[in-house]
Amino acid sequence: LNLTIVQTTTKKEKPDPNQLGFGKYFTDHMFIMDYATEKGWYDPRIVPMQNISLHPAAKVFHYGQTVFEGLKAYRTKDNRILLFRPDKNMERLNHSNERLSIPPVDEEFLLEALKQLIAIEKDWIPPAEGTSLYIRPYIIATEPALGVSPSNHYLLMIILSPVGSYYAEGIHPVKIYVENQYVRAVQGGTGTAKTAGNYAAGLKAQEGASEKGYSQVLWLDGVEKKYVEEVGSMNVFFKINGEVVTPVLNGSILNGITRNSIIHLLKHMNIPVAERKISVEELYQAHANGTLEEAFGTGTAAVISPIGELNWQDKKMVVNNGETGSLTKELYDTLTGIQNGSVSDPFGWIVEV
Ligand code: COI
Repeated sequence: LNLTIVQTTTKKEKPDPNQLGFGKYFTDHMFIMDYATEKGWYDPRIVPMQNISLHPAAKVFHYGQTVFEGLKAYRTKDNRILLFRPDKNMERLNHSNERLSIPPVDEEFLLEALKQLIAIEKDWIPPAEGTSLYIRPYIIATEPALGVSPSNHYLLMIILSPVGSYYAEGIHPVKIYVENQYVRAVQGGTGTAKTAGNYAAGLKAQEGASEKGYSQVLWLDGVEKKYVEEVGSMNVFFKINGEVVTPVLNGSILNGITRNSIIHLLKHMNIPVAERKISVEELYQAHANGTLEEAFGTGTAAVISPIGELNWQDKKMVVNNGETGSLTKELYDTLTGIQNGSVSDPFGWIVEV
């Protein structure tokens, strides 16, 4: 691979693998690559983790022209290193780029560069159960100019963070607040792209939910505020009367790779699964008549997180007595088993570094 590598001479001490939390520690190296309109992407390099210096007028600061991805590297019992469907993240990065008027990247090249970075940082992949090395590729617009137009200069970086579970609850069910005031995305907006603004715009609602004792908000559709969309850090699934349902990708929901994998797994397990519109009223009725059997969220960071309670307009829906459902548990075990190499992968999802 045509890539410059500068290794650090001062390695950091590794954090306690049982106390990682999410995204608090960073490894010794990073990947970085420049873009200029006249040159295309150039000078890919792996260098010691370091601060970057940007002009105060860099477009990303003013107009939010930026995209990101999230994936993980896993350590197997026999010390191999696995990635889970990384080609899908590269594909989605370019989908986000397209939406944000950022030039596309060479997906195959970036995946090879990412593998090199992981190989250099392999000692940072934590050994503890339920941990992994979170990989955060992202692109920022760096041209110093205040006109609202696509930047002529960008930086693409990949940083790595050893992580445990995303939620403080760990593998215990989270409580989710159904958001009624604010919306996350509308069709034609940026909801299907992984871009910073979607997350910034969600903070206000999340703060409100958090004050009421809820971990995250469940977003409703931006037009009627009637149909369930996603949580922001995860897609959502409900088991209603034996069938698993998840909101259909409608042009404002993020196309989650874990979401897609769970749909494949359910089909493989011969469990009925449907992608369709789901109103919050339907969930409420299903809860009232006892057919809302399980609820969980899916995401790279969140993995599979059981949902133990939904609150809609101060009406509480406790799901499965606030405990992890048996299907949720089975899906968690199968998915994480495939990811960490302890369960065979019938789908060809695993890529060895
Ligand atoms: C991920 O699951 O990787 C994400 O990007 C969600 C993020 C909000 C932590």
